[in-house]
This record gives sequence, C-alpha cells and structure tokens, in this order.
Amino acid sequence: MNELIRLPKYLASSGVASRRVAETLIVAGRVKVNGIPVREPGRKIDPRCDRVEVDNIPVETASEKKYYLLFKPRGYLTTVRDPFGRPTVMDLFPEGVKTGLFPVGRLDMDTEGLLLLTNDGEMAFRLTHPRFQIEKKYLAMVKGVPSEGDLLQFHKGILLEEGLTSPAKVKVVLPGKRKTLLLITIREGKKRQVKRMCLAIGHPVISLKRVSFAFLNLNGLHPSAYRALTREEIRKLSVLVGLKV
Ligand code: URA
Repeated sequence: MNELIRLPKYLASSGVASRRVAETLIVAGRVKVNGIPVREPGRKIDPRCDRVEVDNIPVETASEKKYYLLFKPRGYLTTVRDPFGRPTVMDLFPEGVKTGLFPVGRLDMDTEGLLLLTNDGEMAFRLTHPRFQIEKKYLAMVKGVPSEGDLLQFHKGILLEEGLTSPAKVKVVLPGKRKTLLLITIREGKKRQVKRMCLAIGHPVISLKRVSFAFLNLNGLHPSAYRALTREEIRKLSVLVGLKV
C-alpha cells in the first residue's frame, strides 16, 4: 500500500500548524526531511521512515487531538506568538493545555467572541476553507441607521477589494437613533470581512462580537473562559468538513 503523504498534510496532522501555515514554513526553508531542507510544498514523504524536522526540532507523530472553544476577549491577538510581545489568545490557556494549540482562523484584536483552537491541522484547514462554507454569526454595533436598501446589499453581495462577497444574512437586533445592532451571518472568512462590509455600506463597525461558529455558541462562557469541545461536538464538526470519525 502507498503510504506517501504530502509534507504539509503530514505537518498538519502532526499538529505542527495548519496546512496553509505548514506550506509557508516549507517555502521558508524551515523544514528538513532526513536532514535536508525541502522547499517544495508538493514533496511527499513516508511517515514510517522519513525523519522530518521543523526549525531543527523533530516532528512527533500526532499526539492526542485537542479542541477548545474560547470566549476571546477584546485586546488579545489571534496568533500563537507575537514578535512585539502583545497579549495573545494563547495567554488565556495554562501551560499544560496550550501545548501544540493554534487558533482556527482569526478574530481581530478588538473583536471578541467565539474562537476555536486545536492541534488538529487538518480540521483547522477544513474549517477555514471556503469550500466548506462554515456559518459564522456576528453581532455588530454599527454607526447610524442602515436603510432597507443598505441591508439588502448584504444579501446581494458587497463589493470589497477582492471582489463581491457571497450572499450574507442580516437582521436588525436593536434599532437606535445613532447606532444599530445587527446580527450578520456569513459563510466566508475574508480578512476583516464584517468590518469592511459594514464600512462599504456607509455604517462603520463600532464593536464586533462573534456569537457562533457552525452549531457552536458562547452559552455558559464569560470573556476569557474556555472549554473543551465534547466528543459529540467534535464528531459533528468532522462530519461538516467531510472528515472520517
Ligand atoms: N470580521 C471582521 O471584520 N473582524 C473580525 O474579527 C471577524 C470578522
């Protein structure tokens, strides 16, 4: 049987990084196979006999998979390490728990809400891949009072630098005179997407909170708190992204 797998997939399944990040590590020359740097993300290896190192540290084959749901507070970066020493979401996990974890997608520093973290690179890759269209809901407090016409644009698609957004849903949760609370549902994950969509219709975001990701929500958690996903939740997520369970 052919046991060869592509290097980024191997690194992801070993919990080193998501597949996308693994590809950048490879291109940057930080990955060695049998002591020799490899810069082609298409390279295949045999995990039974090839020795893989990242930054000269041997990659261990997948340890136990971990999945956490965090209520990210404002003021924390969604990254594993910040070269400027700013607070990161990893600071919210104790030493023993955070080993190998990385965030699934990202929330801006000033956005709060639901963030998944895992050491399962394949799951993270799929959950953030546009193909799987995972639904995300955001509560956005925006400046002013959007008209019916403004809100219709969410359904039709809003023109951003990269092109038109896919149809999104929007509901007014709390109307006001100077600001309006909107519930926005998107199935994409472009950078700063919600803020840019709101800005494009002339109603900039004042504050933003992600309240759900797929079928998961923040129930029972306060800002900075986290919990492990249940087996059933992991199974349901796997099914959503076409992974065997
Ligand atoms: N959209 C944004 O603009 N920011 C986030 O943090 C998440 C989605």
